[in-house]
Formats: sequence, C-alpha cells, structure tokens
Amino acid sequence: MGITCKRKKNMDSKIRSIKAREILSSNGLPTLETTVLCANGTNSSVSIPYGESAGKYEAVTIFDEDKSRYEGYGMLKAVKIVDEIISPQLAGVDVTDQKQIDQKLFDLDPTPQKTNLGGNSLLSVSLACAKTASVIEKLPLYIYIQKTYGFDGGITNMPKPNMVVLEGGKHADNSTDFQEYSVSVIGKFNCSDSVRAGIEIYRSLGRELKLNGFNINVGAEGAYAAVSMKSNIDPLLYIKNAIEKTKYIPEKDVGISLDPAASEFYESGFYNLSKDQKKFNSSEMITYYENLLDNYPIISIEDGLAEEDWDNWKPLFTKLSEKIMIVGDDLTVTQEKRLKRAIDEKTINSIIIKPNQAGTLTETMATVMLAKDNNIKTIVSHRGGGETTDTFIIDLAVAIGAEYVKVGPTRGERTQKYNRLMEIAAELNL
Ligand code: PGA
Ligand code: ZN
Repeated sequence: MGITCKRKKNMDSKIRSIKAREILSSNGLPTLETTVLCANGTNSSVSIPYGESAGKYEAVTIFDEDKSRYEGYGMLKAVKIVDEIISPQLAGVDVTDQKQIDQKLFDLDPTPQKTNLGGNSLLSVSLACAKTASVIEKLPLYIYIQKTYGFDGGITNMPKPNMVVLEGGKHADNSTDFQEYSVSVIGKFNCSDSVRAGIEIYRSLGRELKLNGFNINVGAEGAYAAVSMKSNIDPLLYIKNAIEKTKYIPEKDVGISLDPAASEFYESGFYNLSKDQKKFNSSEMITYYENLLDNYPIISIEDGLAEEDWDNWKPLFTKLSEKIMIVGDDLTVTQEKRLKRAIDEKTINSIIIKPNQAGTLTETMATVMLAKDNNIKTIVSHRGGGETTDTFIIDLAVAIGAEYVKVGPTRGERTQKYNRLMEIAAELNL
C-alpha cells in the first residue's frame, strides 16, 4: 500500500509541460508568466519582475528587441525559450526535486549572467516549479521553501517593512538623484502593526509634502515622487517631520533607510549629485553620508557607492557599519561570488535579495545561505520597474527569516505583497 502510494505520488508530480506567456507588468510593458503542469493535472503559475535600474552584473532580462512591438520590450523570445527549449528538458522531472530542476536550468545556461536563455525565462520556470510543488505537497509556499533548503527551527519572526515612501532617481522624473527613501520599522510590533506604522508615516509624509507645496503623485514604486525637490537632503527633513507628527518615535520605533543607487550617478570616478550641485570623489561621498547620520535617524544605506567602486566600500564600511546597515544591491546582485568578495573585502553587513538577479531559486538560496553563515542581514526586495502582483518573494522572505522586505506602500503590485505578509503573519500568529 505504502509503496503504491509513493509510486503514484512520484508519477503524479512529474512535470508534463511548462508554458509561458507575455503579461503586462506594473510599468505597462510585458513580463513573463509561467505555468507548470504536472501529470496529475496540478498546475500553478508565477509572474516575475524586472528592474528599472538593474545592476550591471545581474542576470539579464531577455527582451525581444523588435521595435515594432512594445518599443522592443516584448517577451515573445523569452516565451519561446520557456516553451521550446526549457519545457522539453524538464518534462518528466519530479517537480518536487527543486535542486535537480535548478541544476538542469543552470546547465542549460551556465553563463554568469544567463545571457543565453535569460534570467527571466530561467527564473520564471524555477519559481513556478517551486510553487507547483508546494501545491502538490499541500504545504504553504514558505514552509515548502524551508523544507527544500533544510531550514528547520520554524518561524519566530516576521520580516519587517522597509517601506519606500519617497522615490527619485530612475523611478521618478525630476525628483532626487537618490533613488529611494524608506521608513524601516525597528520597534517590536506585530506584523500588521509594523505595516500600519509604515503606512501611517507614509500618509503623514503626504501631508508634510503638501504643506510644503509639493504634489503627492506616486512614482514607479508607489511612493511619493515629489517633483522639483530642491536637494537630496530635503526629503530626509520632510520624512523626519512626518515621523514626528505621528505617534512613532525615530530611532526607537522606526528609522530612515536610503538607497541612493549610487551607480546611477557615478560618472568617471565622481558622484554627480546634480540636485545638490555637487560633484564628489568617493571619500567626499562617504563624508556626506557621515554628516547625514549626524542629523537624521538613518539606519541603513544601500548602494551608497557604485558597483565598480569596490576599493571605497571598505572605508565606507569601516566608518559606518557599527552604526547602520551597509547594504549591497547592485554591488552584490544576489550572486554568491559577488557576496563572497564583499564579505572577504569587508564591504557590507547587509544584502538585498532579488531572485531575478540570480536566475534560479537554488542560486538565490546559495547567496542567502552564505549571507546567514556570515551574519549578513537579508532584505528581500521588490523591483522598481516591471513588477507584478506575484507574492513569491514574500514567502521567500518569511522562509529565510529575512530582517526586512523592501516594498513600496501603494499600487496593487506592492500592496499585494504586504497583504501576503500579513496573511502569513495571521496564520502564524506573529
Ligand atoms: P530596480 O531598483 O528598479 O532595479 O528594481 C530598485 C533598487 O535599486 O533597489
Ligand atoms: Zn537598490
């Protein structure tokens, strides 16, 4: 009887086919949705995002580059790769064997940035398999991920919000050079209260901006994209005021996180802050951050320096890492090798995790595991530009015990993620 059941289960969980299609992402341009169908008829789909200010070293997104459709940003090439190259290779494989699936995906395109088949095609298949397997195994996705990668010890803490409240850089026109200003919860709140804290401060910031004559339209990440901000420092003042007008206490309940995404304004060895009418070399840029820390409740700086500026990350780390989170995003691009270098060279104490920078779930988890082994804090993040309503990253964040999830406060593709976070918290009573 046992043997029959086991054999039947194995037969049931074999992949019958994998199909992708072009769907619209949050910026109105296409991305991929991929569906895995198993022998027993179980099927599940995921959609995956891509970045607007993608790191130079992350897994690439393959676009059609056919200017007659969607300005060249179509996904039909990627659809074809999934349907005609990847699907036949995975047909018959047990969908619950995630490591074997990802190994096959890796072998199909071993290039460092997935330039042959595209990070988008590969990741969509990898995640769709994991999600389908969780359905077959009748487990919540976050438990399935834990089980697959040997995380035991349960779930005692929910990731806290790192909620983007004001955006600039590539995510908003004529705002700041810095890409993101976030409110990070640091106090001991349950999950839904920590989400509420972020939203209440975001709303308070809206009132503060209006009071100071700004519009409160939102940008790509659903945060305010205040036009005509006078400097990169002004938002810090408005956010600080906004916090003080709520019941939350800066540095006790909440702090401010910055993602300058400095690679975007690094030109010929200088940081060109056009809003401040300043051009800094790397050490001046570090001093600029030190001064900010003296005046504002900043708890984290992500990509404070450029992805190419390795040598200067070290003094940045030495000067600030005792006080705040020094976070790698474009620097590390969720890749084990780059994280290893960042650890060896003592450049960061925290890392952004974005599965589509890595290309498969297993490669993402290798980076996560290396981070955990070295006490590097993990922040699982949305993408700025081509996001979708998919919530896989939230289950991932819960599974790995991430310190934070970085997600914008409004627009459906963002609120879905907070809603999933609160749904899991309700299940776990956290
Ligand atoms: P993205 O940027 O648009 O590339 O996702 C977000 C970030 O840098 O954190
Ligand atoms: Zn970033």
